[in-house]
Amino acid sequence: MALQQQRRRFLRLAGASVGMSAYASTLGIQCSAVAGSDSLQPAERRRPALKEVYKEHFLIGMAGDLPGNYSQQELALVKEHFNVVTPENCMKPGPVHPSENIWRFERCDALVKWCLDNNMAVHGHTLVWHAQTSDWFFRDGDKSVVVQRMKDHITTLVGRYKGKVRSWDVVNEAISDGGHSQTAQTENLRNSSWLKAVGPEFITLAFKFAHQADPDAKLYYNDYGIEAGPKHASAMVLLRRLIKEGAPIHAVGIQGHWSTRGIPYAALDRAIAAFASLGLKVGITELDVTIGGASGGQFGPRRFANLPPPSPEDLKTQADAYARLFAIFVKHNQVVERVTFWGLSDRRTWRFGQHPLIFDANNQPKPAYWAIVDVLLNSNRDLPAPR
Ligand code: XIL
Repeated sequence: MALQQQRRRFLRLAGASVGMSAYASTLGIQCSAVAGSDSLQPAERRRPALKEVYKEHFLIGMAGDLPGNYSQQELALVKEHFNVVTPENCMKPGPVHPSENIWRFERCDALVKWCLDNNMAVHGHTLVWHAQTSDWFFRDGDKSVVVQRMKDHITTLVGRYKGKVRSWDVVNEAISDGGHSQTAQTENLRNSSWLKAVGPEFITLAFKFAHQADPDAKLYYNDYGIEAGPKHASAMVLLRRLIKEGAPIHAVGIQGHWSTRGIPYAALDRAIAAFASLGLKVGITELDVTIGGASGGQFGPRRFANLPPPSPEDLKTQADAYARLFAIFVKHNQVVERVTFWGLSDRRTWRFGQHPLIFDANNQPKPAYWAIVDVLLNSNRDLPAPR
């Protein structure tokens, strides 16, 4: 379908109340119940590949340490729908570089090879972070020693996959969550070991080192909660400073760990435009929408909350939320370059038990999958405007 035509359809969209039976009846499709859920699904409808549906808009990704212990069925599902993969854990500083002279490249090498063999791009995650990073980086070292360790880490890792990893989360989650008033527009940086050892310039330095190691890689600042409220204001202050200091930054990653309890749609819509106004691209880098469960990127206790199985209404609410999000992403398709789900299925998710993804624990598409497809292919209903 021509992009223009899709755009016109999108503009008509203002509300997928994404009940599948309603969808199906407008499409003249017979519905049947899907095993494992009471929701109605269009059983006879062809299941389009998400990456094909969205190919004129942005890349569609998933996170996982592939191929690892993924089943053949799971790997087939990845190949069917996605064209970019983020290693969920294996490229983080802790796992890949547990001490100064020890590197564990096996899982990273296997992931990069599997992705390239299967025609998928790789997004590297993540070079500099306060979590999943071993203490040796900071032990017994003054600023120059710590900077040198950071440089060696980035140069070795980015250099190893030069030309193979398309983009990197260079710095992850540098902005603090709390203690910040709505009006105080400061960077409000997290008091991490990196900040303590190096000062605020650790972020600019990380970008410079990554760019030196692979000048063609797209470089991201990645964080959660930066689409709304004071954390958004802080992100804008920080990004302006990075640009001013000459950090080679290309994109902002909005993680997108949300819950159906509340998604800041209107703020997200404005935030994408605000980041674009700085000349940056945007990626939705870790998308999941729990059914009334946790949101945000913190490793808090709610992370493992075990919620009851979702009702058909729950699945519809979630489908609606995903449809509204994708309508916003499509609206900004000149800016949004990638939308990546954090995991593969409700079995392969860091929020296990909260049913956050678009394939269920048996790898079957949920109503949310169909809602996302229908944002472009069957947008004959109105999505509510972003709130
Ligand atoms: C999570 C992984 O999904 C888990 O398997 C791991 O135990 C902890 O980290 N923000 C990030 C991701 O940038 O790296 C985190 O991933 C989720 C929050």
